[in-house]
Amino acid sequence: MTSPDLPAELKAALEARLHGLSRNEAAARAARISQTYRGGGNSAAIRSQADALAYALARMPATYAAVTASLNALGEIRPDFAPENLLDVGAGPGTATWAATEAWPSLKRFTLLDANGALRELALELGRGSTRLRDMDYHHHEAGTALAGAEAADLVVASYLIGEMNDAARGSLAAQMWAKTRDTLLVVEPGTPAGAARIIALREQLIGLGAHVAAPCPHDGSCPLQPPDWCHFTQRLQRSQAHKQIKGAELPFEDEKFSYVALTRAPVTSRFARVLAQPIVGKVEVTAKLCTSDGLEIAHVPRRAKEDYARARRWRWGDAAG
Ligand SMILES: C[S@@+](CC[C@H](N)C(=O)[O-])C[C@H]1O[C@@H](n2cnc3c(N)ncnc32)[C@H](O)[C@@H]1O
Repeated sequence: MTSPDLPAELKAALEARLHGLSRNEAAARAARISQTYRGGGNSAAIRSQADALAYALARMPATYAAVTASLNALGEIRPDFAPENLLDVGAGPGTATWAATEAWPSLKRFTLLDANGALRELALELGRGSTRLRDMDYHHHEAGTALAGAEAADLVVASYLIGEMNDAARGSLAAQMWAKTRDTLLVVEPGTPAGAARIIALREQLIGLGAHVAAPCPHDGSCPLQPPDWCHFTQRLQRSQAHKQIKGAELPFEDEKFSYVALTRAPVTSRFARVLAQPIVGKVEVTAKLCTSDGLEIAHVPRRAKEDYARARRWRWGDAAG
């Protein structure tokens, strides 16, 4: 399992860039960008190098943690997966590329695509100090255009991207990303009802094109969750001093809610139920909400079933309940 916290090399590279920019100014820029997001805007609000850095300092730790948690879930289901090349669509500061690099030593070639020049510039600067990422190939184009000319990759990732597109653009991008996926496509979104709905729609569309779900679902059927419930997970990450200052936060950690789907070309052989909320561990039993191959199930694992109970006690929200 890869740690959800930024690798030391990346954290140091990010914080080193803060020299020359006051933390108050960076915090004000990050606040303006996140207000734009909350108002339904997108990363077009990131226009300068200072904006890109402020955004990355404020958000990269959380999006990195969400992508890492999703990659860990994928790695658990597909322990033999050893991708050699990666295509990171809507790569921004390179978050998912860094997460995938940590998860798979097998990765050798990295292609990133994004329409935002300031974020691309920052990603290239951050990657310069990394032996594995210094030669990343980063294309500055709108994703649809860039994908048309991109080579297929073993692993294609789109993290916190599809929410920035309208329905029609999202549908055609999903098909294009799938066409460029040699083995696995991972899409991660914020863990809101709207983010989860986008994941479900993309999942259904691509299953229709022959994809199989590796995670989080233990089946390729329809999602059994009904509104107001929605499929999402949470990942805790530590906040550095700079991260706290940029966010004006006190707590030394934050919990990022995210939704994701990992789709593969080949059918998945080992499938375990997925834990959909933090289980309740009582004296008599463990109660857990599970997504199983037969649909939603509230499992009651009694203490008297010693081995099962001991295993269920260790389940955490998001785990494969093996
Ligand atoms: C919220 S950021 C996420 C960045 C990165 N994937 C991460 O997880 O930190 C969304 C990114 O998608 C890019 N983006 C949005 N629409 C795009 C499009 N149509 N073509 C290319 N990039 C796009 C933005 O420029 C931005 O870098």
